[in-house]
Amino acid sequence: MPHYGDYQNLIYGAGLQGVSPKLPVDFATLVARATAAMPPQVLTYVQGGCGDEWTQDRNAAAFRHWGMVPRMMIDTRQRDLSVELFGLTLPSPLFMAPVGVIGICTQDGHGDLAAARASAMTGVPLCASTLSNDPLEDVKVACGDTPAFFQLYTPKDRGVAESLIGRAEAAGYKALVVTLDTWVTGWRPRDLNVANFPQLRGHVLQNYFTDPIFQKLLGKPVAQHLPEAIGLWGANFARPIVWEDIAWFKSVTKLPIVLKGICHPDDARRAADLGADAIYCSNHGGRQANGGIAAIDLLPGVVAAAGSVPVLFDSGIRSGTDVVKALALGARAVGVGRPYAYGLALDGAAGCAHVLKCLLAEADLLMAVNGYPTVAAVRAAGATKV
Ligand code: FNR
Repeated sequence: MPHYGDYQNLIYGAGLQGVSPKLPVDFATLVARATAAMPPQVLTYVQGGCGDEWTQDRNAAAFRHWGMVPRMMIDTRQRDLSVELFGLTLPSPLFMAPVGVIGICTQDGHGDLAAARASAMTGVPLCASTLSNDPLEDVKVACGDTPAFFQLYTPKDRGVAESLIGRAEAAGYKALVVTLDTWVTGWRPRDLNVANFPQLRGHVLQNYFTDPIFQKLLGKPVAQHLPEAIGLWGANFARPIVWEDIAWFKSVTKLPIVLKGICHPDDARRAADLGADAIYCSNHGGRQANGGIAAIDLLPGVVAAAGSVPVLFDSGIRSGTDVVKALALGARAVGVGRPYAYGLALDGAAGCAHVLKCLLAEADLLMAVNGYPTVAAVRAAGATKV
């Protein structure tokens, strides 16, 4: 049976032919390469966070104060990283978190399709962002047989919101991820210092521009009236989501509803009580609010409060070890964000797939060595604050 960890055999095998991997296998080297290669304004948007980026930095650093204890004399030659989510059996707990500028991370401006192709290649689901350079239908097709989720920034206009949700359901996405922490953009000094916000330049708005209800609201062809279309998008981008909205979401779609941005146990409890199908513990990678506690430190409390409702996690995942730690702390599925954007920027779909394969290989080999043959075993072993 093949294992994700076999990726290292491929790398060492190629080395015998004198071939080193095109992209690095670790985050520190990857980010250095991406920093040197990416256009400055795309890099700033991807790399930057809110305020002085304390929360963003803490998200990744906090993984270093969680540790695991290996178990010995367990046969881990066969590992099973599969997890159940939304009635699906996913081959691994890893997914790509929604990143709303991946469209412009590749030079051809079709980074969303490239990420989708990486998803098809690896079996790692893509959570496609509302902010996309290609329509959500095309992105879904490019995912091939790998299931995908759709992330929604809920437009103020209910008609547009319902239309986007209906399109996602019709296209075959398997869950609706509603982002709660972004009805207004957080204070991002790196972008402000260069006065650059990609959406205001017309980037990544194709889901709106191709939407029949958005087009009707605009009342004129988008292509000939781009500044007005961008203005309409800006005026309509999103509204704050409140608890009563869960019933509304459930009334307009059969898709499982995932609430992204839940960090407080009381919010997790209330979300579970009100029928959320999954809770997504995340602080948006520290891009929206500064001063927040690292998301990984908040995960155990959210998991405990969520009860039987599955908890997805992102914010600060930089390695396969981080993935395993998040599982050990109770996450059902783990989202990677910035690292796959760097992989896309450096080598398109292949670069993105490489980043995903490295994360999975490291996670799998860690489980093999530590005596954790399954995700359930990882969770049972847990992690300790050190
Ligand atoms: C994001 N994130 C995000 N989240 C979301 O719900 N919709 C979106 O469109 C975006 N867009 C976006 C753009 C960029 C450039 C980044 C880096 C992030 C947040 C994302 O889903 C996830 O929460 C973070 O990326 C997790 O933090 P790290 O691990 O990437 O630092």
